[in-house]
Amino acid sequence: MSLRTRLILLTGSWILLILLFFNMFIYNYIFKRTTDAENRMLWNKAQIILRNPLVHRPENWENSRLLWEFIADDTMIRIISPDNAVMAQISTNEQLTEYPAVYRTDYYSEVENSIEARMLFIQVPILENGKQIGQLELGKALNVIGSLMEILGQGLMITSISVMLFSILGGIFYTRIIIRPLRQMLETMRMIRSKGDFLMLGPKYTSRKDEIGRLGQTFNDMISHLQEHDRKQKQFVADASHELRTPLTVIESYTSMLKRWGGNDPAIRREALDAVQSETRRLKNLIESLLKLAEFEREEQVKLDETALVPLVQETKEQLEQAFNREIRFTASEVSKHRRLLADAKKIKQLLIIILDNAIKYSREPIDVTLADVSGFAELKIADKGVGISQEDLPHLFERFYRVDQTRNRETGGTGLGLAIAKQIIDLHQGTIRFESEVGEGTTVTILLPWKAQTEQ
Ligand SMILES: Nc1ncnc2c1ncn2[C@@H]1O[C@H](COP(=O)(O)OP(=O)(O)OP(=O)(O)O)[C@@H](O)[C@H]1O
Ligand SMILES: [Mg+2]
Repeated sequence: MSLRTRLILLTGSWILLILLFFNMFIYNYIFKRTTDAENRMLWNKAQIILRNPLVHRPENWENSRLLWEFIADDTMIRIISPDNAVMAQISTNEQLTEYPAVYRTDYYSEVENSIEARMLFIQVPILENGKQIGQLELGKALNVIGSLMEILGQGLMITSISVMLFSILGGIFYTRIIIRPLRQMLETMRMIRSKGDFLMLGPKYTSRKDEIGRLGQTFNDMISHLQEHDRKQKQFVADASHELRTPLTVIESYTSMLKRWGGNDPAIRREALDAVQSETRRLKNLIESLLKLAEFEREEQVKLDETALVPLVQETKEQLEQAFNREIRFTASEVSKHRRLLADAKKIKQLLIIILDNAIKYSREPIDVTLADVSGFAELKIADKGVGISQEDLPHLFERFYRVDQTRNRETGGTGLGLAIAKQIIDLHQGTIRFESEVGEGTTVTILLPWKAQTEQ
């Protein structure tokens, strides 16, 4: 069932329900009010009749003129004796006289509903010296009310049907207004899908201030997100294949050279083997980094544990000092020694290696690492006095495969993936990373990582 049919049906049945309820209410209300009025009139009439002292003498009951002056259209007046006998009766409506005469000792009122007519009866005791000697009964055929109610019923029916018709027509009209932009949007989306292009919805949908406008904006946001994702993906595949091809080309050319004539010349053989070895190492590193990046993208949830940063930096520093035979100076503030991170220790160590490895690769002098506590954050600064990075290059450092100087980096063997991985680790821990650098002077990397809240420690 389409949204439109559902809307029309829903509002239609709701209106029908309301109409039914109100019609019933109006009908019953009017009926009750008019019957009550008739009832009151009968009681008044009974009072007037009883005021006549002749009525209180049973010997007068036979006199037909006794009650005659009180009769009106569609009315019956009779007196019933204690033995259920009708002692006097006058009527202007035959049906009323068919109502069985029952002697009652109290005040009584009843609406009699039959298929042909609706009748109202009241009974009042006739008292003489405080003793009941008979019963006065007044009846009234509610013909006028009945036909009035019939007219009312018909009127209500006609108005209800018209209201229903108009509401359905209105429903068809207003749902069209509501649904039309949705349909058009759907059409555009279908077109986008069939063409496979990243088409956006026009301002007709997105500039509206309602839910449809928001839907349009969200759709466009999603498309541009997908587009960006697609662009990055394509860029990544292009970069990755380029990066993989370069070492493979080197390896291929050296091996074919060896095969052709280099095998006999020890110098050439050595050079070729060296090149093949270093390119293979490069390839291996590259593939490892690529796998790591892919792993980060797959992993949605990280396991965060309480981690002391000082020993982690200390340990990494010592390992790198040994491996590269370089000096790294580490100082930590007192506060930072006592506080903990909520972090994945292995990933933080990897982050430290990436940054320190760069500092080692791109400088010659000792490297300074400081750890301090800055308003709830661990502030780690890694400063080198190396080649530095120009202002134009700074914004691109975290892009995959981005290397400042391709030739310089070829010698240092970088893949340009280190900082892309570092950024992912930082994001995973809700931290920030900042580079400050001056070409020829050196680079300072500032990392901020939130400490675990102290109350939890
Ligand atoms: N401390 C630094 N001093 C100077 N240049 C740096 C420094 N850190 C990073 N860079 C520049 O940023 C580029 C990107 O760094 P990144 O670590 O991502 O790649 P890489 O070091 O070339 O390769 P790898 O993936 O092996 O780390 C580097 O190629 C280098 O040019
Ligand atoms: Mg690096």
